[in-house]
Amino acid sequence: MVDWAALNAHAAGRPARRLVSKAITAAGGDRHAQSGVVLDLGAGAGADSLQFARHGWTVHAYDADDTLAARLVENERMSGDVIFHHTDLAEVEEFPAARIIYSTYTLGLLGPEGLAAIWPKLVGALPVGGVMAVDLFSTNDSWAERPDIATPSREQIDEMFRGFQIVERSERDEDGRFLADRKHWHVITTLARKRG
Ligand SMILES: C[S@@+](CC[C@H](N)C(=O)[O-])C[C@H]1O[C@@H](n2cnc3c(N)ncnc32)[C@H](O)[C@@H]1O
Repeated sequence: MVDWAALNAHAAGRPARRLVSKAITAAGGDRHAQSGVVLDLGAGAGADSLQFARHGWTVHAYDADDTLAARLVENERMSGDVIFHHTDLAEVEEFPAARIIYSTYTLGLLGPEGLAAIWPKLVGALPVGGVMAVDLFSTNDSWAERPDIATPSREQIDEMFRGFQIVERSERDEDGRFLADRKHWHVITTLARKRG
C-alpha cells in the first residue's frame, strides 16, 4: 500500500510537467476570458493543476489523497481556478465536459478493469478537437507483473486512441526508483486530439 499523501508532500515543490504547456498549445493556447476546462486525474502534488490555472483554465483536480486540497490554494497570479474532487476515480460516474483531459502516473493504478471502465467516460467528456494528454504504464514496466495495475501494450494504447489524431508520443523505458525501491519505468505518454 503506497502512502500517496507522503509521496505527494515530497513532490509538492516540483515544477509543472512540460506536458502541461504542450497540452495547452494543442488545445489552442491560454484561456483568459471564458475559461476552458481541464480534468487533472490523480492530481497528486497539485503542481500541474496550478499551472493550468495560472494559464486561465478552470481545473477539476481529482485525487483520493485529500492533503492535496491544502496545496491548491488560489493566488492572485492565477486567472483560472481549481476545483478539487476528493474521490476514488473508479467511483466517478460522469466527468464534466472538458477541453483537456490530463493525467500522469495515475490511470494505470486503476487496474485493467478500472482503466477499461474509465476510458469511455473520459473520451465521452471530450468534445471534437479536445485534447487527451495522458500516460500509461506499459509492458516493460516492473509493475507489469502486478494484476492490480494496468500495463497495456503500445498496440493496445493505439487502439484506445482510435478516433484521435496523435500530436505527440513519447516513451520512458529506463531503470529508476519508486520511493525506496528500484523499479523499471516503462511509461508511454500520448498527446492527442479527438477527431470528428
Ligand atoms: C504517482 S502519483 C502521480 C501524481 C501526479 N499526477 C504526478 O504525475 O506527479 C498518483 C496519484 O494518484 C492518486 N490516486 C491513485 N489511485 C487513485 C484512485 N483510484 N483515485 C483517485 N486518485 C488516485 C494518488 O493519491 C496520487 O496522488
